[in-house]
Amino acid sequence: MKKTQIIVVLLIVLFVSCTNKRDNVTFIKSPNSNIQIQFKLSEIGEPIYWVNYISEEVIKPSTLGFDLENSPSLKKDFKIVNTSTSGFNETWQMPWGEQIDVVNNYNELKVELQETSELKRKLNIVFRVFDDGVGFRYEFPYQENLKEVLINEENTIFNLTGDHKVWWIPGDWDIYEHLYNTTKFSEIDALAKAGHKNLAQTSIPNNAVNTPVTMKTETGLYLSFHEASLVDYSGMTLQVEPGTFKMKSVLVGSKNNKYKVKQTVPFKTPWRTIQITDEAKDLITSKLILNLNEPNKLGDVSWFKPTKYTGIWWEMHLGKSTWDYGMEELDGKWIDTGKAHGKHGATTENTKRFIDFSAKNNIGAVLVEGWNTGWEHWVGFEDREGVFDFVTPYPDYDLQEVVRYGREKGVDIIMHHETSAATQTYEKQQDTAYALMQSLGIHAVKTGYVGKIIPKGEFHHGQYMVNQYNNNVIKAAKYEVAVNAHEPIKATGLRRTYPNTISREGLRGQEFNAWSSDGGNPPEHLPIVAFTRMLAGPIDYTPGIFDIKFNKWKKENQVNTTIAQQLALYVVIYSPVQMAADLVENYEGNPALQFIKDVGVDWQQTKVLNGEIGDFVTIARKERKTDNWFVGGITDENSRDIEVDFSFLDEGVIYIATIYEDGKAAHWDNNPTDLNIRTIEISKQLKEKFHLAAGGGFAISLIKK
Ligand code: NOJ
Ligand code: CA
Repeated sequence: MKKTQIIVVLLIVLFVSCTNKRDNVTFIKSPNSNIQIQFKLSEIGEPIYWVNYISEEVIKPSTLGFDLENSPSLKKDFKIVNTSTSGFNETWQMPWGEQIDVVNNYNELKVELQETSELKRKLNIVFRVFDDGVGFRYEFPYQENLKEVLINEENTIFNLTGDHKVWWIPGDWDIYEHLYNTTKFSEIDALAKAGHKNLAQTSIPNNAVNTPVTMKTETGLYLSFHEASLVDYSGMTLQVEPGTFKMKSVLVGSKNNKYKVKQTVPFKTPWRTIQITDEAKDLITSKLILNLNEPNKLGDVSWFKPTKYTGIWWEMHLGKSTWDYGMEELDGKWIDTGKAHGKHGATTENTKRFIDFSAKNNIGAVLVEGWNTGWEHWVGFEDREGVFDFVTPYPDYDLQEVVRYGREKGVDIIMHHETSAATQTYEKQQDTAYALMQSLGIHAVKTGYVGKIIPKGEFHHGQYMVNQYNNNVIKAAKYEVAVNAHEPIKATGLRRTYPNTISREGLRGQEFNAWSSDGGNPPEHLPIVAFTRMLAGPIDYTPGIFDIKFNKWKKENQVNTTIAQQLALYVVIYSPVQMAADLVENYEGNPALQFIKDVGVDWQQTKVLNGEIGDFVTIARKERKTDNWFVGGITDENSRDIEVDFSFLDEGVIYIATIYEDGKAAHWDNNPTDLNIRTIEISKQLKEKFHLAAGGGFAISLIKK
């Protein structure tokens, strides 16, 4: 990692902030002055803010405040005790990521409030305005009349200016694995999405959406609402207020308490964020969420290296093999026979096959699922506590031997911990499990939380689980372990603070194409994800399926993209662990494998070349260690031509470009494997058109000549 250079500028921001004495409006502007937040108290002392972009209103006056369980509501009768402003400008470095340098430049307004009524409680609101959006948070400062806070609801309002076009998933308290909906704001109907039969747990109590939720206004502005630094608090959903263009924060609750968050004063809430851009593509390059998180607390994390990986994984989702070792169906009941049924995937032999393939193809790691005891009591079992064991392998899996063999070939093992959402069982074994990994030199674990949370009554996105997920990462770091979480809490930029938060699922991943009964992920899925879920952070989507139809295993399911799009995903979707997800036998002999072999996983620069939400997106990334560039472009169900202007390439360099594009007859459904591969020389001066088939894409490796 490059030495971090931080230039901090603290100054009184005279020209960008002011208090207008007559009506007591305070404002703060972005460093380029385009975005402005204004703040005032209403006649009854309610905090009110509003946001403008140049001369356009983005958020109309909106109130802020809390309903508490153990104390009267904290939302009116305030007076302003003090306001202060400051500016900040630093450039920090990511240990791995979409780029090396991140500019963190904002102006801040801090408003200190106190109630004029009897309790005289205090609340601060801190606003930060960047050139690409805003963030604000509440601070509960130390005070005599408020020691412990039980929050029943946080009433942060976002008053929209019209009936925007919205890309949304329902505000499910237990899972984000929904398809995106594209509707007008007034047509959001989250409750209609309840009870999806392919979800092991789902709970949608309100007409609300999960974040990031992205919108386009009638005037062509792009807005994305999310949160940053979600620590010891509940996840936020945004509820549609009927008959209005108003959204209200609704925190994820628990059936075990009336309150949703329990905190000790002093504390700070997560940041509420709005990214504001006039081109969709700029949402992807915005680093606002990361910048609202604290700097790296772990120091040197060079023990983790970004890597491509293969895995004993897709074969279970296709039904070729199983996670468990000895389940048999007898008289309509599944029972644990304790004897091998012969279909167990995680065997020493099978793992070695994956290691051999990876070693040959410049892939650094192998994930092995189903290696440990407990899978006989996985899905569908109510009583899952005490079942999974994170140190005991099945008899046909020699953990020490596969690690040794991998090391000999230069391939690491990625550990797998499926907790089945039995949180206390996992907590109890964590130290031993991570210590085992450390003793074997295993530096990455994929965690899973399939099923309803135990203890009963908790939800995946409530405060209890936010703490579980965050504690996992902090504990893992002590053992030099990095975490790729499935069924996670949403990403809120904590990877800046704890870089071992390497990746996560938190969306409808590739696995749905293997088994979902609703047709899998449609071609528009990822062109939406790139502008919604991906704004939160890295995604373990698991691309690279070459056997698109997999009819040998399942006739009724398939991947709904072309093979060229599967390649493009290595560039479009960012993750420091990027899977080559197909069965290794499906790669052998296919010339498209060369792209997976060549493509980078760690970038010094990212350029989003073009894109419209739900339609298409093209991204170019420059690899850190080689200076080579890679380009990926994807489209929805519509075919289109995309021109790439290569002026982003380095001056004076000629690149050997290998282009992987949809063939003339390619189509995601009719002909997904029609792929054309050609090699040309490309330099900065060139512009070139690429044809993308319906559900297709293109991928280019640009290797310096
Ligand atoms: C769900 C995860 O998303 C998937 O990747 C994994 O294979 C299964 N759980 C089993 O842990
Ligand atoms: Ca999942």
